Amino acid sequence: MKILVTGGLGFIGSHTVVELANEGIEPIIVDNLYNSKEEVLEKLEKITGKKFNLYKYDLTEKENIERIFNENEIDAVIHFAGYKAVGESVKNPLMYYSNNLISTIKLLEVMKNHNVKNLVFSSSATVYGMQETPKYTEKMKRGDTTSPYGTTKAMIEKILEDLYASDNSWNIIILRYFNPVGAHSSGLIGEEPNGIPNNLMPYIMKVASGELETLNIFGDDYPTPDGTGIRDYIHVVDLAKGHVKALQKAPKGLNVYNLASGKGTSVLELVNTFERVNNLKINYKIVERRPGDLAEYYADPTKAYKELGWKTEKTIEDICRDAWNYEKNKMN
Ligand code: UFG
Repeated sequence: MKILVTGGLGFIGSHTVVELANEGIEPIIVDNLYNSKEEVLEKLEKITGKKFNLYKYDLTEKENIERIFNENEIDAVIHFAGYKAVGESVKNPLMYYSNNLISTIKLLEVMKNHNVKNLVFSSSATVYGMQETPKYTEKMKRGDTTSPYGTTKAMIEKILEDLYASDNSWNIIILRYFNPVGAHSSGLIGEEPNGIPNNLMPYIMKVASGELETLNIFGDDYPTPDGTGIRDYIHVVDLAKGHVKALQKAPKGLNVYNLASGKGTSVLELVNTFERVNNLKINYKIVERRPGDLAEYYADPTKAYKELGWKTEKTIEDICRDAWNYEKNKMN
């Protein structure tokens, strides 16, 4: 089986390439290197002992996608490629709408022309917006997104629903990730945000390595047990395995799954666990809440367990250990 992995050198894409290869599935990578580095390819080959075909193409150019489909017998596509920084999307919404939507539509058009109608789409818990209870299930309606980035995810979900309604020979799997963190246990691949990180775990990593001085914890007056925000953190290797299971096990048609642990962890719990398992201190201070942040949400992941036989295996301790192992490896 040959799978086209768009954004295959990125954080989640690269870990998924490893898990596909481990299952004997052949990944073909397309990545424009906007938010990733070519050297990840060598790391992937080192981890798996296999060689991969890389197309350094931008998906907004339809001829590029055509070429990939002409040169390969592709069975399915896992579509990760897209801009993903929430703050940047607020500052430059047109860049997000233009890139994320146009590349996806062009990809779908080429898939349709080549009669490749199997797609796994990388969506996000952000499409739920704020719900009445913090435990989000796939039965809930999409809510109001809080950033143009999130809106692109919700819009693409809608496009996929319309496409499926027009032609139900498509098999479309929408995976809603909660908070992907951690790194491969080899320490060779992990998360590489550009510039000063927006997300909690990459920020903790910069403070731990001494690159940044203090972690700002955004609010300790939320209605949660320790007052800090609660999220559902998922180890990126568990997440990658979820994609393989989805390809192998999802029923025909259009299906949506939460990929998450089902457990909420507060900012302070994450920081404390990181300090404990890695035996170091993280300087932090409590600052104002970050606009747009919700107090608490986590997933109900039972649908993925029942239908795909998938659940997370790694703990918050594993996440903290593997993330730091990757960072330390880079410093050496
Ligand atoms: N936080 C801090 N300090 C920081 C960064 C984050 O205290 O420097 C807190 C946030 O307030 C929040 C928690 O850590 O309570 C997690 O924040 P992240 O920025 O790591 O993650 P978010 O939950 O805000 O964002 C994630 C994904 C987005 C997605 C969003 C909504 O990174 O892609 O969930 O689903 F859009």
